[in-house]
This record gives sequence, structure tokens and C-alpha cells, in this order.
Amino acid sequence: MQFEIWAKGLAALNVDCVVLGVFEDGELGEEAQGIDSASRGFLKKLLARGDFSGRSGETLLITELPGIEASRALLTGLGSRKNFSRKTWRRSLASAITAVAKTRIASIALAVERPPAKDLDDYYFGRAVAEIVGSTQYRINDLKTSKKPKPHALQKVLAGPVRKAGVEAAERGLEHGQAVSAAAYLQRDLGNLPANVCTPTYLADQARALAKQYTSLRVQVLDEAAIKKEKMGCLLAVSQGSHQPPRFIVLEHRAGKSDNPPVVLVGKGVTFDTGGISLKDPGGMDEMKFDMSGAAAVLASMSLVAKLRLPMRVIGLISAVENMPSGHAIKPGDIATSAAGLTVEILNTDAEGRLILCDALHYSRRFNPAAVVDIATLTGACVTALGHHHSGCMGNNEDLVHELVEAGVRADDRAWHLPLTEEYADQLKSNFADFANVGGREGGAITAAAFLGKFTQGLKWAHLDVAGTAYQGGAQKGSTGRPTPLLADFLIHRAGL
Ligand code: BES
Ligand code: MN
Ligand code: ZN
Repeated sequence: MQFEIWAKGLAALNVDCVVLGVFEDGELGEEAQGIDSASRGFLKKLLARGDFSGRSGETLLITELPGIEASRALLTGLGSRKNFSRKTWRRSLASAITAVAKTRIASIALAVERPPAKDLDDYYFGRAVAEIVGSTQYRINDLKTSKKPKPHALQKVLAGPVRKAGVEAAERGLEHGQAVSAAAYLQRDLGNLPANVCTPTYLADQARALAKQYTSLRVQVLDEAAIKKEKMGCLLAVSQGSHQPPRFIVLEHRAGKSDNPPVVLVGKGVTFDTGGISLKDPGGMDEMKFDMSGAAAVLASMSLVAKLRLPMRVIGLISAVENMPSGHAIKPGDIATSAAGLTVEILNTDAEGRLILCDALHYSRRFNPAAVVDIATLTGACVTALGHHHSGCMGNNEDLVHELVEAGVRADDRAWHLPLTEEYADQLKSNFADFANVGGREGGAITAAAFLGKFTQGLKWAHLDVAGTAYQGGAQKGSTGRPTPLLADFLIHRAGL
């Protein structure tokens, strides 16, 4: 896909289709007005007939529009002017791209009314266009044997209008947006793979492949013996019930002043979560193939920092295991010793994410990190609390939590700050070990984070619970690629770009 910014002269652009925004009640966006004049009122006539209402999500393809170079125009509804926002703008763009994908149109000029600059500046305009086009074009890497013919591919997108002074920023936005989009594709592809393909070993191979692709990346994969040497007893406890061997992945990106303290990203890579002996209900259990979404987001983010050559040091750590019941599996009440030396009573084998993360978080200490962020599909309780709209964000450092929340707002991949105050840790008391791995139903997303908090004292740490946001069910079932846009924004900002 080729992206370019256009600044003026829409009517003369040589593309297959111009995409124009129309508000509800027929008010034309600014560029649409210009096209209407050029076509001697063609659009107004069409609207007067009531053929297009401008409702958000609605589109109409006009196959011949006089007075412009393009051979077609696509109208996309912007909803009411009063409620026009970045969100409705995003939706109207996504609807337009979806409609275009059903045609033979290969090149478009986007000329949809833009939200005010305070809501979407030129840089984020470019970024959003590339990300929206990318995510709308995503196709699941399915294993269907009857291959549908590929939709006629869109090849070129001109985005505008952008004032001359803003073209450079918008072009940088396009470049970054394409990188974010490619990274989200990687996360989605990995998430959508079945667990019999996407095993811990497979994730390690993906990390190796990334390190081959980018010279700034170095990879180290710890196998079971090496993990034992690191005394990661909690990670091993989860893994011991599975025939699939565990992997601990270390990916490092070095650029710029590379002796600076790194940002460390830690991903939960449970390639399938049956719950173990605390077996899950069968309904919807297949969704637990997405339980490696945190790991996939870390791989995606590492590919992004490498692709954009962000001048900073970033380290990705991934605990990759399968959580299975078997004669070798851990049992409720078993006690494991973490790499940090703390003992954990495993009251519920389905609370396995925190067990593999605690050893990874401890591992991060050797890098003397500037910040540690873990990403995990950690709790159903987080889905209950926030639904599918926000990721949960907690941590021991307010500034870091705010930095992530703000990155999520800018990236339209939002997270919500949940309170991680010290009382929650009380729920983890155990009579038999330093603490238990579960703290009851109440505040389950937070007690899970409180567990991680036991291992991150003295670090600047934040935790993203993406159980509700990393994938979706229903007709669009599959990985969403979240929170890669949030992480990308966080990292790009940290790099000062
Ligand atoms: N992977 C699950 C969390 C999850 C649930 C992700 C639903 C996506 C959708 C996690 O390992 C888990 O099983 N958590 C338990 C914790 C409980 C036993 C304290 C849960 O949420 O039920
Ligand atoms: Mn579980
Ligand atoms: Zn899990």
C-alpha cells in the first residue's frame, strides 16, 4: 500500500475515487462542497432526492461524477455536526474503506472533513489514516481450504487536505501509522493462530525471525534447562503439566545512546490456557488461544521500534508456556518458589498468568530499567469491570501509569487507571507460603496486579490488563491488535519523535 499526503486541488487528483464526508441532514463537508460546485450541484441534487442521509457508517458510491478527474466518488456519513468528533471521523473513514474494498477501486483520495486540529493534528491525522486503512484491510490468516478470491486490493491512498506547513508532520504520521499497522498485523496474526500451531516454541521462533530481519534486534531464548538455572519456579510450575516445553524470550533493541536505562516490556505468553487442574468451563474455552496476546503485543512493539529505528533501548521479555491439566500438572495448594525467592501457594491453577509474569518481572531487574510495563490477558475480572472498551492500567508509579493512559488516548486505544492501593494485597494472605496466587472474587483485576506488585518493588512498573481488549468475540471474532497502538505511542513519545 502506498500512502501520500495531498494539500490541494482535489478535483484534479488522478485517482479512481474521491471519498467525501456528508453530515446528517445533508450538510456537505468543506471539500465535498468544492466538488459539488465543480460538478454543478450534482451532490446537492442527489442529497435533495434523499438518496443519502449522512448517518454515521452509511456510504454511497457514485460511479460517475462530472467535473472531477476521478471516475468515482464515495460519500461517507459523518453523523450530526454537533456530535462530530475524532471517533465519528474514524468510523466514517473505516466505513468508507470497507465499502471501497468491495469494489475494483485501486486508488483513492480521502477528502473527508477533519476534526478540529486540537483533537487531531496533522501528525495524528497521517497516523490515524494509515492505521484505519490498515486495520480495515486486515484479513485473518485462516486455514480455510476453499480460498475465496482475494478482494481487489486498494493500492494507493492520498490523504488530505493538509495545509502546506503541516505536510511534513502528516507524512511522518503516515510513516509511523504504517509501522503501527504492520505491528498490529503481527499481533493479530499470532493471536489468531490456533494453539496447536502457536506454541511457546513457535513464539520463540518468531522472536528469532524478527532478530534476523532487523539488525538492531538481538534475541536470546531460554529453554527449560536455562529457565531452571534462572530458578523461575513459578513459570515452571505452570508449564509442568504440558507436553510443550516452555520458552523464555529476551529481545533487545539497541539504538541511539544505548547505555541508557531501557524500557522493558513483559508479555504474558500462555499459548493456551485450559485453567489446568482448576479447569475452565468448556463454553468459549477456544478463546484461550488468545492468552498469548500480551506476548504478541511485545513482539509487535519490538518490530515497531526496530522498523522505526527509535533512538532508545527497549527490551522485550516473554514468558511462553501452555497451561494444561495432566498427571504432571500443579495442583491447588502446591507451593512454588519464584525466581525472586518468594514462595507462592497456588490456590487456583487458572491464575497462571501472574505466576509466569512474576518471574519475568524479576528478570527485568538485571537491566536496571527506566520503566517496566507488563501486558497480559490477565483476568476475567478486568473484563467485568471495564468491558471491551478500555484496558486496565495499574502500577506503582503514577507518572508511568498516566503516561500509558495518555498514550492510549492519543492512539485511540484507551486504558483506564484502576486503583492499586496497598489494601488489595491483604487478600493474598496464605497460611502456608509468603502469599497465595489468588485473592477472591472481589477486585480480581486489582488483586492480580497486587500480586505482581510484590515482585516489582523498587522498579517503575505498570501493568496493562488487556483481557477485554486484545480480542473480540461475535461475528468479528479474532484478535484486535490492541494494545499495540497504545504501546507504540508510548514508545514513540519516549523516543522523543
Ligand atoms: N487468561 C485468563 C483471563 C481471561 C479471562 C482472559 C477471560 C480473557 C478472558 C486468566 O489466566 C484466568 O484464568 N484468570 C482467572 C483468575 C482467577 C482464577 C483468579 C479468571 O479471571 O477467572
Ligand atoms: Mn487462567
Ligand atoms: Zn490465562
